[in-house]
Amino acid sequence: MRWSRKDLVGIRELSAEEITFVLDTAAAFKQVGTRDVKKVPALRGKTLVNFFVEPSTRTRTSFELAAKRLSADVINISATTSSLTKGETLKDTAKILEANHADIIVLRHSSAGAPQFLAERLRASVINAGDGAHEHPTQALLDLYTIRERRGSIAGLHVAIVGDILFSRVARSNIFALLKLGARVTLVGPSTLVPRVFERLGVTVSHCIDEVLPTVDVVHLLRVQHERQRKEYFPGIGEYIRLFGLTKARAKLLKADCLIMHPGPINRGVEIDSDLADGVQSVILAQVTNGLAVRMAVLYLCGGIASR
Ligand code: CP
Repeated sequence: MRWSRKDLVGIRELSAEEITFVLDTAAAFKQVGTRDVKKVPALRGKTLVNFFVEPSTRTRTSFELAAKRLSADVINISATTSSLTKGETLKDTAKILEANHADIIVLRHSSAGAPQFLAERLRASVINAGDGAHEHPTQALLDLYTIRERRGSIAGLHVAIVGDILFSRVARSNIFALLKLGARVTLVGPSTLVPRVFERLGVTVSHCIDEVLPTVDVVHLLRVQHERQRKEYFPGIGEYIRLFGLTKARAKLLKADCLIMHPGPINRGVEIDSDLADGVQSVILAQVTNGLAVRMAVLYLCGGIASR
């Protein structure tokens, strides 16, 4: 297929063919990472701005490394060091970046829709690095890449996503991507955070993790987002662990080849027992490694369109 998007704002608007194309392109870039010289000239002469208005470790460093592996120049901007603190609008800040000939803007923002807003107004390529509770498309792509790498394909697998679905951009992007590629998805968590209305998306909703765990090929544990929670939605931490935490006792319910995933950052001992996070079924660090190849693929594909 021929890639035609200058921006990656969400998974919702991608076709199954486009998702598969990104994953296949990422596989080629992963191979580059095994060479002595881990750099290719694909984006030489291009400038990428990593514009993070919310904190990040994994996504920001992964995009920076991906851009450098593609030979792009990289500038990092955070909310606290930008003129956003002086009242400059997001649009004006982005226009300043474009006036400095930025070719690609990677944006993380607390407001859902911020990347779409910029994508519609800039010639530069805009990549969503997580916007509010809306989408985190490259996280879902790296999650699917990791599943496909371990299990051969996505179609026909049963995936449980556990936890704070209501406020989770990771969950939303994963749901769209997994369904498009033919997986069966069950959402698990307290009824306040996993309302039945999600079933309209084509998933199953369960409030009993012990019934679901023996049936799944992948269990994806979401971070408890203390910063986005309101008390009325969330049981206490102790109750959450008792009802939904992946404890050692509960992990005995899993099939022996079930993959354990987590987007990070992990609250060890809350979403998952610390030993399980580092155990043989965990692919949490593989997710991070694959994120680099997936982000190289996204920057290469979208950046190539923006520069035409
Ligand atoms: N998974 C993820 O987005 O992690 P960061 O917040 O560290 O980027």
